[in-house]
Amino acid sequence: MRVPLVAANWKMHKTAREARAYLERLLALVPREPKVELAVLPSFPLLPEAARALRGSPVRLGAQNVHPEPAGAYTGEVSVSQLAELGVRYVLCGHSERRKLFGEDDGFIGRKVRAVAGAGLAPVLCVGETLEERKAGRAWEVVARQLAGGLAHLDEPGALVVAYEPVWAIGTGVPAHPADAQEMAARIRAWLRERFGPPGEAVRIQYGGSVKPENAREFLRLPDLDGALVGGASLDPDAFWAIAQAAER
Ligand code: 13P
Repeated sequence: MRVPLVAANWKMHKTAREARAYLERLLALVPREPKVELAVLPSFPLLPEAARALRGSPVRLGAQNVHPEPAGAYTGEVSVSQLAELGVRYVLCGHSERRKLFGEDDGFIGRKVRAVAGAGLAPVLCVGETLEERKAGRAWEVVARQLAGGLAHLDEPGALVVAYEPVWAIGTGVPAHPADAQEMAARIRAWLRERFGPPGEAVRIQYGGSVKPENAREFLRLPDLDGALVGGASLDPDAFWAIAQAAER
């Protein structure tokens, strides 16, 4: 039984003060034992504050990025052990904004996934095609390549999560068609089963891209989708909680 994971990717939003107010409100909404798993992924400087606020709560902490090396001369970067020390559970690897704006390729992303899993944290490998790739009928080819590269160094899935985020649906207000998201999730699951055997079945697959309270249920009731990775709508604690409630099944 896969427990849905609904995660708030704040991207480069919020100050520490805003984060405090948000988390106070969110924790007032979330019961002690929610039926789904919730995670909040703030920017690096907000992590200590968020860790303090979430301590003892059922809401997990996540990070938006990491560097694959354990330590060293990598100015401006953050290591897995620095995240682990703060109680971070989930780490995004290969978000499409990292791929597009910061030139991250599948090889680099695969090293991040290995570093995160090796430290006992849960990598969230983000995959997804662009609109041009979808129109050209290459969506699966692209996602399969991202899976192969991103998971190249994993022998077993462990706590791995895969987030399917079609690039054209991110921040546009236009989500994927639920049937297309389900089709892609089913192919991803089949690929994971082929790659890892039965443990591949247990990997949670999230959908991301313009998820809102109004459309969340359409995605979260699909058989191969086990949660959502939410950007814009997650910036409001009430909207984020409304989405999480849509995942209760
Ligand atoms: P939006 O929900 O703003 O479309 O962003 C999705 C996303 O990129 C989550 O990682």
